Amino acid sequence: MFNFEFQNPTKLVFGRGQIARLAELIDKDTKVMLVFGGGSVKTNGVYDQVKEALKDHQTVEFWGIESNPAVETVREAVKLGLEEKVDMLLAVGGGSVSDATKCIAAGIAMPEVDPWDMVVSYSAKKQIPFATVMTMPATGSEMNNGAVISNRTLCQKLAFRGAYPVFSILDPETTYSIPSYHIACGLADIVVHCFEQYMTTTGQSRVLDRWAEGVIATVMEIAPQIRENKTDYALMSDYMFAATMGLNNFIRMGVTQDWVTHQIGHELTAMHGITHGESLAMVYCGTVEHLREQKKGKLLQFGERVLGITEGTEDERIDATIAGIEAFFKSLGLATRLSDKGLGVETADEVARRLNARGVHLGEAKNVTGDVAREILLKRL
Ligand code: NZQ
Ligand code: ZN
Repeated sequence: MFNFEFQNPTKLVFGRGQIARLAELIDKDTKVMLVFGGGSVKTNGVYDQVKEALKDHQTVEFWGIESNPAVETVREAVKLGLEEKVDMLLAVGGGSVSDATKCIAAGIAMPEVDPWDMVVSYSAKKQIPFATVMTMPATGSEMNNGAVISNRTLCQKLAFRGAYPVFSILDPETTYSIPSYHIACGLADIVVHCFEQYMTTTGQSRVLDRWAEGVIATVMEIAPQIRENKTDYALMSDYMFAATMGLNNFIRMGVTQDWVTHQIGHELTAMHGITHGESLAMVYCGTVEHLREQKKGKLLQFGERVLGITEGTEDERIDATIAGIEAFFKSLGLATRLSDKGLGVETADEVARRLNARGVHLGEAKNVTGDVAREILLKRL
């Protein structure tokens, strides 16, 4: 392991009925802007629970954060927050609402900086406090300091870093209403988060290897059961907790990371609007196929420990491991290649052009340029 410092200050409040705790988690004299998405919280009862808990607080509401939240919408929310002089933000919804809230928090704290300039700078230097009621397990945004914002005008999607949520409430019952497709995308996202922090080189940390393998194995085990019953409290608790543990910066302590698949996936979303989790399922197997030499030790380890692949030559076992990962994504009903979505070489060319224009060198070995990203996509046309 290399040297590291670690501090994750988010208070997690997990379990049934915990939205009511908002009443005590937020000081009475704090003026709160509630940030919502497109309305799922109105139909599943989450909105009513939040309003009931905060009935003695002064609140302002901002509605309309879209999936892959747009900076154009963030600017409107910043304007409202500044006009209303709010002290704190509460995101109520999925990763998109949480990420947008992180950006709004920066926009209110630094009104002189356009939110997109802040995103491009990769770092929010100041943010007002924010917290979340997370209703969609996937991104880990409820317990991390990252966010991903899209610019519709420029057709770009970029990540930035900043503060962590002060607290996050995770009530597994809020997940019962998630449409099956978004559950599938959420499960794929969790698995790829773990892969991005695990599928590098062997021998860095036994603890974190087994931690990441444990989260992935759990998701692979519960996925078919959730398809049968998405209102099982125990199953949805594991799903929700796996999402948080997959990307709250725990499994990346002192080890190398990859993130190639995410960077390419963000391009597919920016260009074609593909839902985040599905974009990862479309890219991941091409990534490990193309980088199979570099990731050989970890592919063999994962194949043996998680998929039970012990027979055959190293090459055969790696083939079987990649096939096993692809089979998992397919079992979720997700696309695993460009052509599954009617896309082809032109898309791979355009991804290469866009990444080359940014001069990127991605991945744990910094060897993935736009041209290599193209090769990755062409592995799974
Ligand atoms: O907008 P509403 O009406 O709330 O509907 C949402 C949305 O349509 C719905 N939904 C959420 N919770 C629900 C629900 N519907 C019924 N019942 C519920 N309990 O689900 C749809 C998808 O929601 P969204 O928030 O877009 O999904 P997700 O949580 O997967 O977030 C995706 C965004 O997060 C970014 C992605 O790039 C994407 O922009 N990511 C953020 C990361 C981070 N902050 O660390 C890391 C990730 O890798 C990812 O890049
Ligand atoms: Zn992700």
